[in-house]
Amino acid sequence: SALEYAVAQLMIFALIPNRYKLEHMKLIHILHCTGFISIDCGLRNSSSYNDSTTGLRFDPDSGFVEGGVRRRMSQEFMADATNEQQKSLRSFPRGSRNCYTLPSTIGKKYLLRAMFTYGNYDGLNKTGDGSLFLFGLHIGVNFWDTVNLTNWNPSVTKWKEVLTIAPSNSISICLINFGSGIPFISSLELRPLQDTMYPFVNTSVSINLYGRNRFGNVPNVLTRYPTDKYDRFWVTRILPYPWIMLNTTNIVESLPGNDFFNVPSAIMQTAWSKESNYSGFSISESRRNEDLTNQQLLPVFHFAEINGSNPDRRFNIYSAGELLFSDFSPSRFQVDSVHQNGRFLHNPNASFSLNKTHNSTLPPLINAQEVYILVRMDNLTTDSEDVNYMKEIKKHYNLTRKNWNGDPCSPREYSWEGLTCDYSKSNQNPRIVSVNLSTSGLEGGVAVSFMNMVSLENLDLSHNNLTGAIPDYQLKSLKILNLSNNQLVGPIPYSILQRFQAGLLDLRFDMLYCAISGYI
Ligand SMILES: *[C@@H]1O[C@H](CO)[C@@H](O)[C@H](O)[C@H]1NC(C)=O
Ligand SMILES: *[C@@H]1O[C@H](CO)[C@@H](O)[C@H](O)[C@H]1NC(C)=O
Ligand SMILES: *[C@@H]1O[C@H](CO)[C@@H](O)[C@H](O)[C@H]1NC(C)=O
Ligand SMILES: *[C@@H]1O[C@H](CO)[C@@H](O)[C@H](O)[C@H]1NC(C)=O
Ligand SMILES: *[C@@H]1O[C@H](CO)[C@@H](O)[C@H](O)[C@H]1NC(C)=O
Ligand SMILES: *[C@@H]1O[C@H](CO)[C@@H](O)[C@H](O)[C@H]1NC(C)=O
Ligand SMILES: *[C@@H]1O[C@H](CO)[C@@H](O)[C@H](O)[C@H]1NC(C)=O
Ligand SMILES: *[C@@H]1O[C@H](CO)[C@@H](O)[C@H](O)[C@H]1NC(C)=O
Ligand SMILES: *[C@@H]1O[C@H](CO)[C@@H](O)[C@H](O)[C@H]1NC(C)=O
Repeated sequence: SALEYAVAQLMIFALIPNRYKLEHMKLIHILHCTGFISIDCGLRNSSSYNDSTTGLRFDPDSGFVEGGVRRRMSQEFMADATNEQQKSLRSFPRGSRNCYTLPSTIGKKYLLRAMFTYGNYDGLNKTGDGSLFLFGLHIGVNFWDTVNLTNWNPSVTKWKEVLTIAPSNSISICLINFGSGIPFISSLELRPLQDTMYPFVNTSVSINLYGRNRFGNVPNVLTRYPTDKYDRFWVTRILPYPWIMLNTTNIVESLPGNDFFNVPSAIMQTAWSKESNYSGFSISESRRNEDLTNQQLLPVFHFAEINGSNPDRRFNIYSAGELLFSDFSPSRFQVDSVHQNGRFLHNPNASFSLNKTHNSTLPPLINAQEVYILVRMDNLTTDSEDVNYMKEIKKHYNLTRKNWNGDPCSPREYSWEGLTCDYSKSNQNPRIVSVNLSTSGLEGGVAVSFMNMVSLENLDLSHNNLTGAIPDYQLKSLKILNLSNNQLVGPIPYSILQRFQAGLLDLRFDMLYCAISGYI
């Protein structure tokens, strides 16, 4: 098994000289990271590589997306790129919605991160020409966030992260063209979480990252994998005196049995406090290009007392003036992750205050904090059988150029061209009732998948180059079948003829076909 293999490698590891250790570490590394999907969008085919800082393998995006064009950031920014993923990107000049589809396990919890570095790839200075430059993101069939790069430094990377539950054996991420610039994406990362983590995330609630910070004096701006084995991004925040930067080398871990957040010990080993004559402080994170007025926030605070002398430290925690937690006292060298059981708050400045209580000796401290925005997952996906039949049809006729990707019917305004869906049953998944592939250059036989779709009432396959005979199949619900202007040959199968003669089916076909079939 993989585990035995890893153990065997570790045993060898102890015996081999240093210069071989690196290779073996990589091997063990890969075993640990199974389940990570890391995609460098727009990368040339067959040029996978291991990222130099994380050691993670990045793959090209060709197997995960259909539309779009591969581009590279402009030469002037190449030298300053902080990682390889920023250098290439995929842009989507065509289509109002373009989706990536990543494999997943149904019902499992994931972190999904998308990164965007414009890098003036098109030479048009879009983030600096004074006009709005933004586009949307969907997680599956639900709105996730807007990527707003208006007045943005072209070399700076923006990232979006969502914690979500896989609705099926794939997760789709779509870029939405709002008419204010061509959507693009630089990288995409999918990381499995433990299902106990972030307990307020469920099938109808996902959370969009607003900020995830660690406080204290650490040299690197960003902490991620392998320090955080879930590859969460922790941004370092550091401030000058009278702020006090605390740190410890003691291990700081969660209480046994508490695996809701699994914050790495290294993240908890530093903290912010303030000079002892201060009664408290605020942490606030309002951000340019992101308006929180209509958003609902969920803060999670991570505390641990890391002052070895076990001081008296008690404080209240406020969100925009509202008392969330009173008289809180951090535990020594143990993580307390504080949140209000999945309650979302209104707090347009993402501003939180920690104020010491009257009889506390020391001002508050904070080690780390996460702030999330509510993402409702209310929109329903198309009936899964209909989805599977449409996928078969797409493959059967090799319909890649049609930009048929993402969910066929949902959200309504992005449904596939040529389909009509039934949304009338409000709490049931939409169904496909008509398919129009007229004049679509179809070749080959009539796909049996059409015959299997139990809600399909109207099928227009006219003006194509279909050949062969109509499959002999018991039709489910088809009321109109247009096969005119093709090269089909007879006879018309009995099953279809019967429905036609009973007046249940409006069948349209060519004279040529009629003459050859000889039945009618
Ligand atoms: C890259 O790979 C995809 C599928 O894996 C293929 O469709 C495409 O033609 C390839 N492109 C090039 C330039 O090789
Ligand atoms: C790009 O836009 C910025 C901000 O407006 C401007 O200062 C700069 O000169 C522009 N660069 C080019 C090459 O047009
Ligand atoms: C659900 O779909 C509707 C219409 O199709 C869309 O307007 C709405 O934004 C979607 N809701 C979410 C939460 O994405
Ligand atoms: C998901 O969580 C929300 C908020 O905690 C709750 O109101 C909702 O009922 C939950 N939905 C499901 C399907 O568990
Ligand atoms: C706390 O003490 C420092 C230095 O002694 C001083 O600069 C600062 O103004 C004081 N702050 C408060 C709130 O008293
Ligand atoms: C808590 O502290 C903040 C910042 O130090 C201050 O602005 C706020 O008024 C205090 N709130 C209460 C209820 O004491
Ligand atoms: C995008 O950012 C610009 C510049 O900060 C701002 O004016 C605009 O309102 C933002 N748009 C959205 C939809 O957030
Ligand atoms: C299918 O689309 C074509 C145009 O592409 C249109 O002429 C035809 O009427 C449509 N068929 C149905 C059944 O709506
Ligand atoms: C059928 O194929 C022929 C050549 O293969 C082509 O000339 C013709 O336009 C096609 N007809 C349709 C309706 O697509």
